[in-house]
Amino acid sequence: MSAEPLHVAVDLAGRPYDILIARGLIAQAGARIAALSPGARVAIVTDETVAGLHLGTLQSALDAAAIAHSAIVMPAGETTKSWAHLGRVVEAILAARLERNDLILAFGGGVIGDLAGFAAAIVRRGMRYVQIPTTLLAQVDSSVGGKTAVNSPHGKNLIGAFHQPALVLADTALLDTLSEREMRAGYAETVKYGLIDQPDMYDWLEAGAWRGIFSGDETRETAVFKACRSKAAVVARDELETGDRALLNLGHTFGHALEQAVGYDPARLIHGEGVSIGMALAHRFSHRLGLIERQDMVRIIRHLDAVGLPTRLQQVPGGVGDAASLLTAIRQDKKVKRGALTFILTRGIGRSFIANDIDPAAIEAFLADELASEASAA
Ligand code: NAD
Ligand code: GLY
Repeated sequence: MSAEPLHVAVDLAGRPYDILIARGLIAQAGARIAALSPGARVAIVTDETVAGLHLGTLQSALDAAAIAHSAIVMPAGETTKSWAHLGRVVEAILAARLERNDLILAFGGGVIGDLAGFAAAIVRRGMRYVQIPTTLLAQVDSSVGGKTAVNSPHGKNLIGAFHQPALVLADTALLDTLSEREMRAGYAETVKYGLIDQPDMYDWLEAGAWRGIFSGDETRETAVFKACRSKAAVVARDELETGDRALLNLGHTFGHALEQAVGYDPARLIHGEGVSIGMALAHRFSHRLGLIERQDMVRIIRHLDAVGLPTRLQQVPGGVGDAASLLTAIRQDKKVKRGALTFILTRGIGRSFIANDIDPAAIEAFLADELASEASAA
């Protein structure tokens, strides 16, 4: 492990916290947590897959710092982000007799981070928690910023709270056991930052840095750092998404509707894949509106294709239903205001913007055309 982890500060008034990024960082978890909250006991919330691969390492690090710990192990996968599993986590935390000054450790991908974070928000009216993200997606995005949630049959992330972690420990070596498919899904949320407002980051990724993220050279730490720095800046100026934090949802309004359409079945679509198709749709819709040059749109979609991410509705096994049913799901988006839709659209690479008052009929017609179109790169 490098001597000093990369560091990003999240400057929230009264609740600042650190994001630390390094290969092998988990070995320091006990010392870091003891420094954060001396004498605290911890409950680790994780999933079965992560527990099988990495829980012992985390427990050893806690033992080395004499931190008392218990583990709450949930099934892996998106369907764990539910009321029922939230109830199980909350009751297990209470059964472990954690007090308000003890800590919850969210040790897993975005599913565990969102679930354990929400449990931390509501147990004893709010407990502190530490994010120890174990997927690329969670390291570049979901572990930072305090959005916590579970899903509803009505839609994705519709039940939740803003509750910031007290610390984020991103050990990039944990990603060595992640599948290629999950790495690609996390890459969609990584390249998103370039597409939103950092053309230099996009160029860097497209030029080849993306391969280093996958192979695990030091590019991986740099990419997580760049993503977290970008997200931390947005969160610090708009924690509750009253303004430009919505930009971080590039591709998500479409993507969430697709996840709902497949019933959150990971065999058909996982979150980052939905975001990838959603970003491709956002760029194609922007081109349809005359906002973005065709060459930029084609370039972005070709890059996502080259990485192996899906970019078209037709690539979802089993299909995603028709345009009308997708629009019904989109209408549940949290950004809907008096029936009008808000989408993140773009004028070019790194030139995304928030478009309010998008006519639902225009989206439905666009989706119908997308569903009817022949497969092609753009
Ligand atoms: P996930 O948590 O389901 O993890 C993906 C899979 O990888 C799971 O099967 C998990 O068991 C496995 N896994 C995790 N770490 C592993 C490791 N180190 N080695 C091997 N396997 C491992 O999914 P995700 O993609 O991390 O997160 C998706 C979720 O994040 C979605 O629910 C999405 O809504 C949410 N999200 C939240 C935010 C936010 O700001 N809160 C942002 C983006 C996404
Ligand atoms: N992933 C979007 C956000 O945190 O705002």
